[in-house]
Amino acid sequence: MNFNSISRLNGEIILPGDKSISHRSVMFSSISNGKNYIKNFLMGQDCLSTIDCFRKMGVNIDIWKNKDVIVNGVGLRGLKKPDNVLDVGNSGTTIRLIMGILSGQNFKSTLVGDESISKRPMKRVTEPLKEMGAKIDGLENGNFAPITIEGGNLKGINYKMPIASAQVKSAIILASLYSNSSSKIIEKSKSRNHTEIMLKSFGADINVDGLEIDVNPVDSLYPQEIYVPGDISSAAFFIAGASIIKGSEVLIKNVGLNPTRTGILDVLKDMGGNFEILNKEVICGEEIGDILVKYSNLNGVTIYGDLIPKLIDEIPIIAVMATQAEGQTIIKDAKELKVKESNRIKSVVENLKKMGADIEELEDGMVINGPTKLKGANIESFNDHRIAMAFSIASLISYGNTYIKNFNCVNISFPSFCDILKRISY
Ligand code: S3P
Repeated sequence: MNFNSISRLNGEIILPGDKSISHRSVMFSSISNGKNYIKNFLMGQDCLSTIDCFRKMGVNIDIWKNKDVIVNGVGLRGLKKPDNVLDVGNSGTTIRLIMGILSGQNFKSTLVGDESISKRPMKRVTEPLKEMGAKIDGLENGNFAPITIEGGNLKGINYKMPIASAQVKSAIILASLYSNSSSKIIEKSKSRNHTEIMLKSFGADINVDGLEIDVNPVDSLYPQEIYVPGDISSAAFFIAGASIIKGSEVLIKNVGLNPTRTGILDVLKDMGGNFEILNKEVICGEEIGDILVKYSNLNGVTIYGDLIPKLIDEIPIIAVMATQAEGQTIIKDAKELKVKESNRIKSVVENLKKMGADIEELEDGMVINGPTKLKGANIESFNDHRIAMAFSIASLISYGNTYIKNFNCVNISFPSFCDILKRISY
């Protein structure tokens, strides 16, 4: 797909639902006892993979007007052995969280995914789940898909997490619902807590105290009505675009503002960004609000430590913003980027270099010196949705044409990205 520079971004936008929350809404609804209504569900390929997996295990799921979903939950132990493999496509959240649920089922099933999923490490999930009693096999000692799981007879776990990962944490929490004793999970650093918030509303017995999470087994979950807020990870592209394109002003409505996800706003504030949060409220336990962003002169910052999990998916677009900031931006402690949909340290550095940015790759991040006038280039998306979208924003401030290869991968998390971008571009 081709992109050219524009003069400004201007307008009001409403985003599709949050990807992390959409996945969880279908998963938890499927194992609840009764009918669940989900509003503003993200109809991206990843979340559709989750729906597909639960349908294959006998859950009746209806999609309404391409936005709302009704899930007829079958109960914690009511899933059926699928006739075939469960295909998670490109979705890391699907494969890792579903392993927690499958660990509690009395049947054997196999999880497969696309080329990217097959390269992503799974031991971080399979090891604690095996310790709890699940029988799991996978390539290279359970580290890579295809993964075969046979669950049942789980015991609680006391687990100190070696990495900050909401996917790992969530898989263990889900398996803990099925265990015969309580579990304690100690996080390395606070990661997104949508599982804890949502499962509590379904009636799970979860107590959080700082980095410690205690989970007691339960007999059943109660069905819910869930509103999925707009995805801050999708908002990030417009937040960054409006901040770096002169004369821009964008109002992004109903964005999820859970503090475990708003690292990009903390960074933008430090960079001297011009934004305001309006109409803040709490829906289904999640903070929500509108974000009004205007262009401003940015300065470089250092991003590290506990802030990293709060913006891990936004680093590609933050790197693009940093090329327009005065001075140096250092991003470190972000080794996890190497095992996302692509190696995002390499994907960002390689592509920004092609556009003429002053950027250096680090073992656990990158260093960017700005500001630089970017030039159009042939960009490799590496089939990674967040790379494709980050570089489409970079192209809007570049001179010359930019071509982004395999741009269709944006459908993974944000099928309406181009329509929205076109509508507010001048
Ligand atoms: C997610 C957690 C994060 C994030 C991913 C979604 C989730 O991954 O990068 O896009 O929904 O729990 P990790 O848990 O591997 O950090």
